[in-house]
Amino acid sequence: MIILGIETSCDETAAAVYEADRGLRGHCLYSQVATHAPYGGVVPELASRDHIRKLLPLVDQALAQAGVGRDELSGVAYTAGPGLVGALLVGATVGVSLAMGLGVPAIPVHHMEAHLLAALLETDPPAFPFVALLVSGGHSMLVEVTGLGQYRVLGETLDDAAGEAFDKGAKLLGLPYPGGPHLARLAEAGRPDRFRFPRPMLRDPGLDFSFSGLKTALALKVRELTDAGELSQDTAAAATRADLAAGYQAAIVDCLVGRSVRALAVSGQQRLVVAGGVGANRELRVRLRDELSSRGATVYYPRIEFCTDNAAMIAFTGCLRLRASPGAYTSLLVEARARWPLEDMTAGG
Ligand code: KG4
Ligand code: ZN
Repeated sequence: MIILGIETSCDETAAAVYEADRGLRGHCLYSQVATHAPYGGVVPELASRDHIRKLLPLVDQALAQAGVGRDELSGVAYTAGPGLVGALLVGATVGVSLAMGLGVPAIPVHHMEAHLLAALLETDPPAFPFVALLVSGGHSMLVEVTGLGQYRVLGETLDDAAGEAFDKGAKLLGLPYPGGPHLARLAEAGRPDRFRFPRPMLRDPGLDFSFSGLKTALALKVRELTDAGELSQDTAAAATRADLAAGYQAAIVDCLVGRSVRALAVSGQQRLVVAGGVGANRELRVRLRDELSSRGATVYYPRIEFCTDNAAMIAFTGCLRLRASPGAYTSLLVEARARWPLEDMTAGG
């Protein structure tokens, strides 16, 4: 079974080929960062137009890389949501059209499900069951995963997602889009203990997150330091900005680590899978590895390039879904859902 995967839910255009027996055969990606950077964030209409320009050449490139002809495909999987609806429609239309032309099933894939299964693409994959910490630009949630399509949301963010907290913090510090990786880089040069930011809800019972108060605390601190002239352009100001970034990142990481440890305890699981763009954060990876190993639990990650958006996870999820329910994907309806709760996913698709 060979599946073509297509991802266009936000600002990355990607295509990949996954074969059930041989694993990932090819994957390629075009990032729209340069297109959106002048605007400080993703401009949905520009994203859709760019997907239209880039997707078909990327599909050809992924097939060529895999050495697979279109006639060898058993199905076409595409991200059907959640995401920007115009961007999703590009991948969905191309995916369903290709499937129709080739006479194979079109498999609408849930983007967050694909993120939480991405770690299974690695050579030492986690076995079911596990707890997934899904931390992307739009979502922060802890999910108990007992099998394909068996997901129980244990907790989620009440306001900003962790990636959003990184991005908004970066903006407050004057860093360019996309903020998360820039803030993480700046934090490496800073002292995390100079500025102490709140750890919202960390002591509360339950497993939900909240990051908007943390962002407000940073905004107030930046204003205070600016008024005091401590953030003007000199060497001391550069060190202060790095210290702010380090303190802010430490607060986010503490919240994510604290909630993850609690989720493992509550669910009785021993494996944590981290997924989504924030899973690329080095500080988070180091802290989780240390905290979990001291508790006899194990943390798993997709490789860094599969933490952020990619089509390998879409092709892979499509393949698992088609294999589990070969007769379920006969519809040629073009599916694009801006919102799509993960709990709606069931084993049958
Ligand atoms: O999963 P993803 O690529 O896209 C969504 O589906 O949202 O996640 C993107 C998010 C952005 O908020 C980005 O700033 C954040 O992940 N991110 C990071 C890092 N790399 C990406 N945040 C912190 N540290 C990083 N190294
Ligand atoms: Zn994503």
